[in-house]
Amino acid sequence: MLGILLAAGKGTRMQADFPKVLFPINEEPMAFQPLKTLYDLCEKVIVVIGFCGPDVKQALLSRAKEIIENFDENKLLFFTQEEQKGTADAVKTALTGYLHTQGDIAKEILVLNGDLPLISKVTLLPFIKNVHKERLETACLSFKTLNPQGLGRILRDHRGFLCGIREEKDATVEEKKIQEVNSGVYFFKTEVLEKILPGLRTENIQKEFYLTDVFADSSNTRKEALLCNKTEELQGINNHYELALVRKKAQEKLQKTLGIEKGVEFLDPNSTFVSAHVNFEGSCQIGPSTQLKGKCHIARGVKIIGNSWIEDTEIGENALIDWTCVLRKAKIMREAQIGPLAHLRPGSVVMEKAKVGNFVEMKASTLGAGAKASHLSYLGDAEIGENTNIGCGTITCNYDGLQKHKTIVGKNAFIGSDTQLIAPVKIGDEAYIASGTALTQDIPAGALALSRPELIVKEGYAKKLLSKLKESKKNQSKGSS
Ligand code: UD1
Ligand code: CA
Repeated sequence: MLGILLAAGKGTRMQADFPKVLFPINEEPMAFQPLKTLYDLCEKVIVVIGFCGPDVKQALLSRAKEIIENFDENKLLFFTQEEQKGTADAVKTALTGYLHTQGDIAKEILVLNGDLPLISKVTLLPFIKNVHKERLETACLSFKTLNPQGLGRILRDHRGFLCGIREEKDATVEEKKIQEVNSGVYFFKTEVLEKILPGLRTENIQKEFYLTDVFADSSNTRKEALLCNKTEELQGINNHYELALVRKKAQEKLQKTLGIEKGVEFLDPNSTFVSAHVNFEGSCQIGPSTQLKGKCHIARGVKIIGNSWIEDTEIGENALIDWTCVLRKAKIMREAQIGPLAHLRPGSVVMEKAKVGNFVEMKASTLGAGAKASHLSYLGDAEIGENTNIGCGTITCNYDGLQKHKTIVGKNAFIGSDTQLIAPVKIGDEAYIASGTALTQDIPAGALALSRPELIVKEGYAKKLLSKLKESKKNQSKGSS
C-alpha cells in the first residue's frame, strides 16, 4: 500500500504565518503523528508539501530520523504542490511525482490529511479491514458529530448509499444539517483513482480540486463512507480551539503511555506537560504543574516535587527536584538535590549528591560531588570541588563589565557566608574563606583567608546619634513649610 500525507496547505484559519501542519503537539509537528502512522502501515509514504515546503520537510524528516527505529529514508518521499489548488490536486501531485521518479504504484492507496495528529493504527486497521471485507474501490472514514461546522458532509441516497461529499461552503441549508462528516481519511484502489482524478472540475465556491469529489463519481464504483464510532482519533485541527482540544488529548495519551510502559507517576496529569522528546529511563515521580520541555533525560527514581520548568536537562538516578525550580540545559547527577526555588541556567552541572538550595542561581558552573550551595548564592563560570561548602550569600563576581572570568574552588573547601569571589580567582583544596570576605587573589590549599574592615564601636553612642538625626529632621521640615 502507498501512503499519501497531505501537508501542502497554509491553514488560513490558524491565522499564523507558518503552516498549520507545523503547529506543535507535545512539541512534535502536527503532521508527524499521521506521517508515522502511514510509515508503519505502508511500503512507501509520500508527503505532499507546498506552503513553506522546505520547513515542513525538514521538520518531519528530522523527527522521523530521531524516533523511528531503523528509519529508511528511501521509504519517505516529498513532492511539492506548487500551487495549492485543492486536495485532489495534491494527490495528483503525489501520483505524478511517484510515477516519474519511482515507477509503478502499489495497487492500494491510503490518504491522510496532515491535520489529524491523533490518528493511529487503532483507527486505521479496522478501516482497512472493512474496506477489504466489502471489496470497496474508494472509501472514506466518516463520523457523526453534533457540531459538523467546517467539515465536508456525507451525502447518502434514499437507500443510504454514499453519493457524494459536500463541502460546508458549497452546502445548502438542508445539507448543512447533516451530522455525518468526512474525517480526511481515505482509501483508494489506484487504478480507480487514476481514472477519476483527471475528470474532476473546480466547479465550487473555492474553485479548488476537491478530493472529496471522487465520491460523486457516477460510474458504478464500489464506494462507501465507513462510519467510525470511536471518534477520538478523528479530531482534526482547523482553528485554535480545536488545536487546544487536541493538545490536551495528545498530552493525555502520552502520559498514559509513559505511565503504563515506563512507570512514570504523574501526580496531577492535568497541570503537567511532558514533551514527546523527553526520555524516561523508568519509574519516577512527577508532581503537579511540572513542565518537562525539550530533550530531557529523566533517570529512575527521580522525584520532581512540582511547579518547575525543566528544559533540555538531564536528571540522574534518585535526584530530587524540589518545588519551583527553573532548569535549562543543565545536568543533575544521581542523588543530587535541587531547590526549592533554584535557577539552573545553561551549562550548570550538579554532581552526585551535591545540593543546590533556595534562591541559588547557577550558570556555566559545576558543583562537585557532595558539595553544597544551600542558600542565596550566585555561581557563574565557576568550578566548585567535591564536598566544598558554599556559604549563604556567596557570590561569584564573574563579570567586570566587559568580560566573564572564572572562579575555581578546590575540594573540601569552606567558603563562609556573604563572601564575594572576585574572578578570576582560584582557591585551593581545604582552604577556609572567612565570612564576609571580598576575595581578590588566589588562595593556596589549606590557607585561611579573611578580609575585614576595621570595626568601630562607640559605647553609648546609639542614643546620641538618634537625637541628632531627629533634630536634623525637624529642621528640614521647618525649612520646607
Ligand atoms: C477537508 C475535506 C473535508 C473534511 C476535512 C476534514 C476536502 C475538499 N475537504 O476539508 O471534506 O471534512 O478536510 O478536516 O478535501 N492540502 C494540500 N493541498 C491543497 C489543499 C490542502 O496539501 O491544495 C492539505 C492541507 O495541508 C491539509 C489537508 O490537505 O493537511 C486538508 O486541507 P484543509 O484545508 O484542512 O481541508 P478542509 O477544508 O478542512
Ligand atoms: Ca481540515
